[in-house]
Amino acid sequence: MADLSIEFCGIKSINPFWLASAPPTDKAYNVVRAFEAGWGGVVWKTLGEDPAAVNVSSRYSAHYGKNREVLGFNNIELITDRSLEINLQEITQVKKDWPDRVIIVSLMLPCEERLWADIMPKVEATGADGIELNFGCPHGMPERGMGAAVGQVPEYVEMVTRWCKQNTKLPVIVKLTPNITDVRAPARAAKAGGADAVSLINTINSITHLDLDQMVAFPIVGGASTHGGYCGSAVKPIALNMVAEIARDPQTAGLPISGIGGIGNWRDAAEFIALGSGCVQVCTAAMLHGFRIVEEMKDGLSRWMDQKGYKSISEFSGKAVPNTTDWKYLNMNYQVIAQINQDDCIKCGRCYVACEDTSHQSINQLIDAVTGARTYEVNKEECVGCNLCEITCPVQGCITMVPQDTGKPYMNWTQDPRNPRAEKVAETV
Ligand SMILES: Cc1cc2nc3c(=O)[nH]c(=O)nc-3n(C[C@H](O)[C@H](O)[C@H](O)COP(=O)(O)O)c2cc1C
Ligand code: SF4
Ligand code: SF4
Repeated sequence: MADLSIEFCGIKSINPFWLASAPPTDKAYNVVRAFEAGWGGVVWKTLGEDPAAVNVSSRYSAHYGKNREVLGFNNIELITDRSLEINLQEITQVKKDWPDRVIIVSLMLPCEERLWADIMPKVEATGADGIELNFGCPHGMPERGMGAAVGQVPEYVEMVTRWCKQNTKLPVIVKLTPNITDVRAPARAAKAGGADAVSLINTINSITHLDLDQMVAFPIVGGASTHGGYCGSAVKPIALNMVAEIARDPQTAGLPISGIGGIGNWRDAAEFIALGSGCVQVCTAAMLHGFRIVEEMKDGLSRWMDQKGYKSISEFSGKAVPNTTDWKYLNMNYQVIAQINQDDCIKCGRCYVACEDTSHQSINQLIDAVTGARTYEVNKEECVGCNLCEITCPVQGCITMVPQDTGKPYMNWTQDPRNPRAEKVAETV
C-alpha cells in the first residue's frame, strides 16, 4: 500500500492532509476531533496580539450552483477572537496529546520587529512544529496594516519573514495572498527573507450576491455589507495556477509549497501535489461537509497511487510542472478533432448550438425528412479542436477529442513562420 507520509520543510506528517487556518482549527475541541478523524496536521486559526479581534454578525455568504450546491464561499471573519494565552495553552496541550500530528501556528501582527521577536519564544514554547505568516487576509485586517496589506508589498513580505527567521528556529511558512497581479513577486520575496516554504492561496476579494429588495450585498450586517474572502471549489483553478507559477519559476523552484484553495477530495489534492505542492490544506470543504472528508481523501489517494505504482507522495510531487509552460512553447502542429459517439448521443443538440453560434460552425445537424429524427456530425475539415462541444455535451465521454497524425514535427510560436516576430521572440527566449 502507498505510503502517504511526508516530510514538508523538515516537518514530518503522517499524511499530506492538513486543515487550513480558519474556524475548523480555532480551538482545541475542533483540532482534537480533526485529529481523531485522521487529519495529518492543522494550521491553527491565526493568532494576533491582545486584545483579541472582535467579529460581526453575520459573517458568511455563498455563490450557489443551480441545485444549491455551494460553488464558492465568502467570509468577512477576522483572525482569532480568543486571547493569545488561551490559544497558546490549548496548542501546548493538544501537541502534547498528539505528538505524531503537525501543528503549525498562524500569526498576524503589525509590522513592528519587536512584536514579532516577542511572540516567537511563546510559540516555540508550545512545542508547535512550525509557523505560518498570514500575509493574506483580505478583509478587516488590511485596513489595520496587516494581512494582505503586507502580502501585497514584496518588500514587507521579505522584511517580516526575515524578522521571524532571525528570532526562531522553527520552519517559517509564508502564506500568500492571491489579491495581487503576479504571485511570483511575494513568493520570491519570501524566499529572499529566508522562508522555508510558502502556502497559497488565502481568500480572494469578493462579493457573492445581493439582496435586491434591501439593495445590499451578503453577508448583511445591519443593512450594510463589505467585500469578503472567496474560497471553496470555485477558487481551485486560480489556486492551481498560482501554485504552478511558483513551482516553475526558476527563482523559486524547489521552494516547498503547501497548496490551498478549493480542495475537497483526493483528486483535487493529487492535482495540487502534481503541480508542485508538498502538502495540501483544506478549509471550506471541511466547513461544509465535516472532518470525515479526510477518509475519502486518504483512501482515494492511496488507491490511485497504488494503481499508478507511486510508492510515496514525493514520487509524483511536481510531476506535472515540466508539462506546464508558456503559451509560446506549445506545439503549433498539434491537432485534435471532435468525434461524436452516435450510440451515446441523446440528440440534445447542445454541441450544435454551441459550435454554430460561437465557434467554427463545424457540427452539421441532419434532420430526417420523414421521421424528423436529428443526427449530429462533426465536419472534420472545419473543426479547429477547441473543445467547446465536448465541454457542452451533457453525456460524459460522448464527444472525444481525437489527436490527428499531422506528420509535422514539434514547432512552437517562436519558430513559426506565421509569427511576424518569430526571430525576435526566439532570440529573447
Ligand atoms: C471563515 C474563514 C476564516 C478564515 N480565517 C483565516 C485565518 O484566520 N487565517 C488564515 O490564514 N486564513 C484564513 N482563512 C483562509 C483559509 O485558511 C484558506 O486559505 C482559504 O479558505 C482557501 O481554502 P479553501 O478553498 O479550502 O477554503 C479563512 C477562511 C474562511 C472560510
Ligand atoms: S471542437 Fe470546437 S470547432 Fe470542433 S466541432 Fe467542437 S465546438 Fe466545433
Ligand atoms: S451535445 Fe452530446 S448528446 Fe447532445 S447532441 Fe451533441 S453529442 Fe449528442
